[in-house]
Amino acid sequence: MTPMKLTVATGSPAKAAADALVCALTDKPRALPKALAALDRALDGLIANALRSKELTGERNKVVPFHTGGRLPAGKVICVGLGPAEKLSLEHVRQAAGVAAKAARDWGARTVAFAGETFRADGAAASERASALAEAILLSQYRFDRFKKKRDDAKRLTAATLLVPAAQVAAARAAVRRAAMVSEAVADARDLVNLPGNELTPETLARAARQVARKAGLTCRVIQGKALETNRLAGVRAVGAGSTHPPRFIILEYRPARSGGKPLVLIGKGVTFDSGGLSLKSAANMADMKTDMGGASAAINTMAVVARLKPKFPVIALVPAVENMPSGSASRPGDIIRYASGQTVEIGNTDAEGRLVLADALLWAKRYKPAAVIDLATLTGACVVALGEHAIGLFSTHTEFARRISDAGAATFERVWQMPLWEEYEPQLDSDVADMRNVGGRPAGVITAALFLKKFVDAYPWAHLDIAGTASIEKERPYTPKGATGVGVRLLTHLIANWTGDLADVRARASGRRNRR
Ligand code: BES
Ligand code: MN
Ligand code: ZN
Repeated sequence: MTPMKLTVATGSPAKAAADALVCALTDKPRALPKALAALDRALDGLIANALRSKELTGERNKVVPFHTGGRLPAGKVICVGLGPAEKLSLEHVRQAAGVAAKAARDWGARTVAFAGETFRADGAAASERASALAEAILLSQYRFDRFKKKRDDAKRLTAATLLVPAAQVAAARAAVRRAAMVSEAVADARDLVNLPGNELTPETLARAARQVARKAGLTCRVIQGKALETNRLAGVRAVGAGSTHPPRFIILEYRPARSGGKPLVLIGKGVTFDSGGLSLKSAANMADMKTDMGGASAAINTMAVVARLKPKFPVIALVPAVENMPSGSASRPGDIIRYASGQTVEIGNTDAEGRLVLADALLWAKRYKPAAVIDLATLTGACVVALGEHAIGLFSTHTEFARRISDAGAATFERVWQMPLWEEYEPQLDSDVADMRNVGGRPAGVITAALFLKKFVDAYPWAHLDIAGTASIEKERPYTPKGATGVGVRLLTHLIANWTGDLADVRARASGRRNRR
């Protein structure tokens, strides 16, 4: 399926040659907004009349469709509401654009033009507005229908045009190019997460990573079989032991042409299916566990963007890829494993597998002497209980790193909420027989999971994102269909694109106490 073509043009919206023309307005306008005046004249006052009759109110994300009756080249006009002017943000622009693009498609339009000037967002640069519009238009059209015979291809946008004033064309084009590249990576990330466990195994996940590497010009190394043992990847081996699909440890590397700067390391949990292992999940909780590689998908697909952004510093992605299954060869509750660092772990529950495989990656990361390490993982049900679908759980040992991640989350609306790594929770992970246990009981499950990871973190600045609630959603959103969200790609891209050298050497302080690491 050829993707939609998104271009930038200048000129009056009233003259745009597209099936549908989209314009936006904030709510309760006292008079017809200036940006709509020319359009309204061409429509013989249609919009002003609808405002007067209160059929058109500008209520947030509400769509009002008009037939133009031959008065414009476009047969249809779609007005979408932005909500209160004083609260308007780029996210409201994204949402309105996504809603309108879907409405145009569902109304049968193949081509659509957006009157960019009507999507106002005070304080935002023209290029920011253009990328918000472009991302939302592209992301809203995502569908996962490759396993359906009856695809809804009849209703599909083939081309969208973003209309901007002549002075903004160059900036808008650059923004649209970047947005297209990011949106493609998000769509690819959603695809991998939406794939069921029979289609996406550690082997096929590694193949997908290789494909990204080949297309983007990255190096890819995959550790498997006996080499997992020689490299002492104990967590990967233990979790993968029960599956007929053997585990992999995937390494993607971007290195700038002129080597410079310390690397950023991205780690993604790549559990292609999480049955719980011998600590088997209940049927109801198992169905969604094809999404347990959302972190891996974000890390791998972000690398595709990194390869095109070409930052001045290296970026490495590490993905432990396993299927967590029960069988005669599976790890048992009570098993003790020994990591490359010499640390031993008692497996109290085989369903706490994510932290076991991430520990290998955190230990591995040390060899790069990284500027910072960030892991993304659908790690705990407790995170879903705490934050639901709307926030990523953030944990970090480094104040400045955490701040940069929060900023990237706010800018992309992949919002994060920080939680503590206080040492008082640590005894919950004590084991009678090993250095630690992989489970810490019910209280603060999202925190003890993060604290488990912290035990394998070296001196580098580290952050952990628990995306258990955000990797996949139950209810459609303006520019995200239900199912996989591709969360993490936009956040990481923003973080990397704005990365400025090493972090200030400010170490995190937890409740006034200095962290030990
Ligand atoms: N992959 C799950 C966490 C999860 C739950 C992700 C719901 C997305 C939605 C993880 O491997 C897991 O099973 N965690 C256990 C840990 C427990 C055994 C300590 C959990 O959260 O129940
Ligand atoms: Mn699990
Ligand atoms: Zn899991």
